Amino acid sequence: MSISQQATDAFIEVFKYQPEQQFHAPGRVNLIGEHTDYNDGFVLPAAINFGTVVSIAKRNDNTVRACAVNFNHEVTQFELSDVIEKSSKYMWSNYLRGVCQILQQEGVKLTGADLTIVGDVPYGAGLSSSAALEIVLIRALTALAGFEIDPTQAALLGQKTENNYIGANTGIMDQLICARGLKNHALLIDCRSLESKPIALAESMTIVIINSNVKRGLVDSEYNQRRAQCQEAANALNVSHLRDATLTSLEHAKGSMSDVVYRRAFHVVSENQRTLDATEALADQDWHRLGKLMAQSHISMRDDFEITVAPIDAIVEMINNIIGNEGGVRMTGGGFGGCVVALVPLAKVTDVTDYIKQHYQARFGIKEDIYICTAVDGAFVA
Ligand code: GLA
Repeated sequence: MSISQQATDAFIEVFKYQPEQQFHAPGRVNLIGEHTDYNDGFVLPAAINFGTVVSIAKRNDNTVRACAVNFNHEVTQFELSDVIEKSSKYMWSNYLRGVCQILQQEGVKLTGADLTIVGDVPYGAGLSSSAALEIVLIRALTALAGFEIDPTQAALLGQKTENNYIGANTGIMDQLICARGLKNHALLIDCRSLESKPIALAESMTIVIINSNVKRGLVDSEYNQRRAQCQEAANALNVSHLRDATLTSLEHAKGSMSDVVYRRAFHVVSENQRTLDATEALADQDWHRLGKLMAQSHISMRDDFEITVAPIDAIVEMINNIIGNEGGVRMTGGGFGGCVVALVPLAKVTDVTDYIKQHYQARFGIKEDIYICTAVDGAFVA
C-alpha cells in the first residue's frame, strides 16, 4: 500500500473522521559536495522517490494530536503553548514539537491539528529522513494556518528546528533540496547565496543507492567535531568560511594549523571545486569525468575528512570495478555508515545489484538494502 494511502487509513482509524489535506516531502541523495554546505560551499543533491507523507485536519482548539504509523501507530498530543517541551518517550514527535515551536517563534499563528505521519525514507541512512519530516510538517502546518511561506524560508526554519530544538548542528543542504528539488534534475546549490541551478539527469543513467545498514555511532559528535575543525581552519586562514579559501591559500597557512585540521580543510576546499566540475560533467554527460570526480570525492572523504567506514569503502570499490569509467560512485551523506550513491548506465544496473547481493553480506555479515531512485519534485514544487 502506498504511504499516502497508509496515512489516510491511519487517520480514519485513529481519529475517526476524514483528513482534510495531505502533503508530501521527499528524502534526498547528494551526488557530490559533502560537508561543504556549512562551509558556505556548493552541493549537488537530488530529491528522491522516497519520502514522508502527512495527512492532516484542523481542530478548533490549541491541541496537536499526532500518530506515527512507522512507530507502531504511537499517538502523542500537546498544546500549542509558548514553550513546547520535548518528549523523552515519543522521540519522533520532537520534530513536530520543534517545528511548531520554531514556527510560532517566527510569528506564524498556528491552529490545533490532528495528523498522521508515514514515511519510507530509511532512518539514519544519510538520505535525510529528518529533513523530509521537518519540511512536510512545515508545509502542512503553514497551509493549515493559511500562512504563505516560500520554500527557502521553509528550509531555513527546518534547519533552525534541527539546530536549535533537536540539537544537531547541520547545514542547509537537506532542507533546501527537500523543499526545492526538481523532477529529473539535480540542483547545484550555492549554500552561501542559497541560489540553485537545475542540472538535468540523463535518462541513460540510473541512480542506485546501496544502504550499508552499518549502524551509525557517534554521528552527532563526529559531525560537530568536523564542523569545529573546519571553523578552526577558516580562522587560521582569516576567512569567515572555507568557501573563501583556495588550495594555494591553504598551502601557505599549512604551518599555522595541525595536520588533522589541514586535511579537513583540504577536503572541503577541493570538494567545492569538484562539485563545480562535476556539475559541468553531469551537464555534458561526460561520465568518465564525473566518475573520476566522484572517485576523488570518496577518497577525500576516506583519507582526509575520515568519515567513511570499511563496509562503505568496499561497496564503492565493488561498484567501481563493475562500472569502470561509464559512471560514478561514492559515499553520500554525513558519513560513519549510511549509503553509497552510484550513477550507473542502465545496462549495468543488474550487474551492480547482483554483485552487491552476492558479496556484501558474505563479506561483512550485514544485509544491504538497494534503492533504485528517480529524482522527484520537492515539497514546495509538487
Ligand atoms: C548531513 C547534514 C547536511 C550536510 C551533510 C554532509 O546530511 O544534515 O547539512 O552537512 O551531512 O554533506
